[in-house]
Amino acid sequence: MRKFLNSTIILSGIIVILTAITVGLLVYIKNQAPPVRGIAPITAIAAMEPDIAEWGLNFPNQYTTFLETESNQTRTSYGGSDACQKVEEDPRLVKLFAGNPFSKDYKEDRGHRNTLTDVRATERLNEKTPGTCYSCKSADNPSLWTDMGMAAYDKTPFKDLGQRIHNPIGCANCHEANTMRLIVTNPALEEALAAQGKDWHTFTRQEMRSVVCANCHVEYYFAGEGKYLTFPWSGGTTVEAIDDYYTALEFSDWTHAESGANMVKMQHPDFELFTAGSTHYNAGASCADCHMPYTRDGAAKFSSHNVQSPLVDPAASCGACHTDVEYVTDRVAGIQEQVAGTMSAAEEALVAAIDAIAAAADTAKVDQDLLAEARRLHRSAQLRWDFVAAENSMGFHNPEEALRILASATDLARQAQIKAIQAQGG
Ligand code: HEC
Ligand code: HEC
Ligand code: HEC
Ligand code: HEC
Repeated sequence: MRKFLNSTIILSGIIVILTAITVGLLVYIKNQAPPVRGIAPITAIAAMEPDIAEWGLNFPNQYTTFLETESNQTRTSYGGSDACQKVEEDPRLVKLFAGNPFSKDYKEDRGHRNTLTDVRATERLNEKTPGTCYSCKSADNPSLWTDMGMAAYDKTPFKDLGQRIHNPIGCANCHEANTMRLIVTNPALEEALAAQGKDWHTFTRQEMRSVVCANCHVEYYFAGEGKYLTFPWSGGTTVEAIDDYYTALEFSDWTHAESGANMVKMQHPDFELFTAGSTHYNAGASCADCHMPYTRDGAAKFSSHNVQSPLVDPAASCGACHTDVEYVTDRVAGIQEQVAGTMSAAEEALVAAIDAIAAAADTAKVDQDLLAEARRLHRSAQLRWDFVAAENSMGFHNPEEALRILASATDLARQAQIKAIQAQGG
């Protein structure tokens, strides 16, 4: 009996101890940090960090594809990344831009990591170039704009500001650090949207996939003595609204050396042409859909940050939505050829208008009112032609709108020519 009692006590003891150990073990296991499955620990990134290598620690796929923008040099029929000299390929440009630095140096654009090298090499720079020209070129901008304010940034001469600028475009131009949210970083874009009663904070993710590009791929001008970066959007973003805006302001970039007209130089209105009711915009597509297609790296899916001509890899760029990639790339070729031909006709008309105005201005008894009218028409015609010419897709972003604008450019140029002939005869 005693022996039985002893073994019961010992057995109960063992059970109690085992239970205690099991409970302890379970509590211990439950309180362990979740296992890390091959994902590198996230490193905190400083707000507006200009160095992409820091961001690259967390996002190696986006980082390495972004680095590829430096070396991709493929040339396509009307685009690509070979920095060819447009004024040598189309000598009519020398006449169209007479008196403007673009008549000397006008190169095809390249990938995002080349922005600093290319802006510093352009022959369009001179002693008076303002700092504003760095606005679309550097990942240092968001923190400089925060520190200095954009007005002071724009007023600083290009060569002085350059000492504070060390990085080409980087992650900080489009993303908020850590949250990786897409954001508007250029104060000029925020102000231009506000002038239209829009607040980008309310935009959807799909809208932001185009709006981040509008930080830079838009028409702009330098307002006033302080060269304040401004987008001419308060009346809308169509070419007519932009023309009206500049006319109301009596703004001009330069006086044409041959026709004497007060001209406006258009700058890459990619966002404006695309959003002017293009088929893809109306269908809800964004810039990133074609220029930053999803790519696979093993199991991971990410947006390619090698932003380039979609024609370099149409299967990736168009294949997500179109099953017949060959058909749509053929359509691009057809559209671009048609737009290039129509653009060439507009150039011919502009050259004729310039010659007629110059001849009229040389005549002693010229009718000054008609001459002034011819110059105004030259300005409006060339602004329209340049809207499509300076845009980067040779019309593909919005074929109907590009052709409509070029037809009206040709019409206005021919009217300018007729007015000049009348002025000379008068
Ligand atoms: C439906 C697809 C599509 C969408 C959407 C799109 N693009 Fe494009 N983009 C193209 C194609 C095609 C070209 C022509 C490329 C060529 O000629 O090599 C092009 C050309 C360009 C170029 C010139 C590329 C080069 O090689 O020089 C730029 C810059 C550009 N697009 C920016 C934008 C921006 C900014 C947006 C949004 C506002 C946008 N694109 C929306 C398809 C698209
Ligand atoms: C911070 C300004 C900035 C932003 C934001 C920006 N770009 Fe650019 N982009 C540029 C500049 C400047 C160039 C020309 C660089 C050069 O020629 O050195 C360029 C060039 C390009 C090219 C031509 C590349 C090539 O290889 O020829 C494409 C395409 C392009 N951008 C598309 C986009 C798209 C799409 C977005 C939005 C997702 C975007 N960019 C956002 C400034 C910007
Ligand atoms: C020209 C603008 C631009 C620049 C510069 C840029 N990104 Fe992006 N990034 C985008 C867009 C657009 C998306 C798509 C976002 C979406 O669909 O919500 C994106 C998406 C991402 C995402 C989300 C996952 C994915 O791949 O879709 C990460 C992470 C990211 N970028 C990291 C980076 C890093 C790191 C850098 C710098 C090396 C960088 N980005 C530079 C525009 C940019
Ligand atoms: C996000 C999806 C999407 C992507 C990416 C996309 N497209 Fe489209 N595309 C559409 C939609 C939607 C339509 C309109 C279809 C319709 O109305 O029948 C369209 C229409 C077109 C059309 C007009 C159809 C025709 O018969 O002429 C062409 C051309 C075209 N796309 C070319 C391209 C090219 C080239 C690319 C790649 C550079 C591309 N698309 C990328 C969605 C896309």
